Amino acid sequence: APDAEELVDKIRVLKERHRAIILAHNYQIGEVQDVADLIGDSLELARYAATTEADVIVFCGVHFMAETAKILNPSRKVLVPDLKAGCPMSDMITPEEVDRLRRENPGAIVVTYVNSPAAVKAKSDICCTSANAVRIVSSIPKETPIIFIPDQFLGDYVQRATGRQLILFEGFCPTHMRIMASDIDQARQEHPGAFVIAHPECQPDVAKKADVVSSTSRMATAVRENPAQKVVVGTELGMIYRLQKENPDKEFIPACSSCDCANMKVNSLEKILWALEDMSPEITLPEGILKDARRALDRMIELS
Ligand code: 13P
Ligand code: SF4
Repeated sequence: APDAEELVDKIRVLKERHRAIILAHNYQIGEVQDVADLIGDSLELARYAATTEADVIVFCGVHFMAETAKILNPSRKVLVPDLKAGCPMSDMITPEEVDRLRRENPGAIVVTYVNSPAAVKAKSDICCTSANAVRIVSSIPKETPIIFIPDQFLGDYVQRATGRQLILFEGFCPTHMRIMASDIDQARQEHPGAFVIAHPECQPDVAKKADVVSSTSRMATAVRENPAQKVVVGTELGMIYRLQKENPDKEFIPACSSCDCANMKVNSLEKILWALEDMSPEITLPEGILKDARRALDRMIELS
């Protein structure tokens, strides 16, 4: 089998030939992060994809992220290393659920976390990511009821941050669900003075114990700016690769050693190479869904 260096060389050649760029989420395995043109959180990657002049985007993350790139820049070819890399939280919500919530709450605005299928975004008023959810919700007039889907814990966090009541749905991230409040207590006890970061997808009793609750890229900024030598990481384990690379002298302690997202880890250098060789698998969407989902995503981009 070819070694990593060989694979990277071949990827670079094909990337140039096809005028392609590689985008990678902060949770991707190290080799994939290292070959990427940009690493980021959902919002940064979406924004970059929206304006890139490359002909081809190889999106290394999970399905909804690549779909978002396609919706925001439909004339580009969007490839993924593996179509099976989905997000279980995204699969928890359907367009029918959105119809039901709207029927039950007439006049409400639907704010949809990007971790959702395109067909759900198409039925939404505006999207958000973990980086801008507070800002998006705050932009909606106080008297307007808000349906927030699908993540109940991000929703709970936004409620606390904005002081607003949201109509929540029962979705959650099975990966972040694994972190327990007792894990944070234990880590603080074992590592006094450590800086504790957590993702808003964590359960509320976990998020409340963290020093910073933020999107993955803001975590990276917060860690660079914080003087603590030890950092307790309350998010998916892949995040530690970037944090360690940017802060070689700091020590990173996972809040929970089983907080890994298997879907994020199915992408590899081999699969990136194959995608560029075959120009497949490609993300495609029905015209109607593309157009309607774009409205909700464009509103988000305008506001953030
Ligand atoms: P970010 O947008 O903060 O990178 O989060 C994406 C995600 O899937 C977290 O589990
Ligand atoms: Fe989805 Fe959770 Fe994996 Fe993020 S970490 S992609 S929310 S399952």
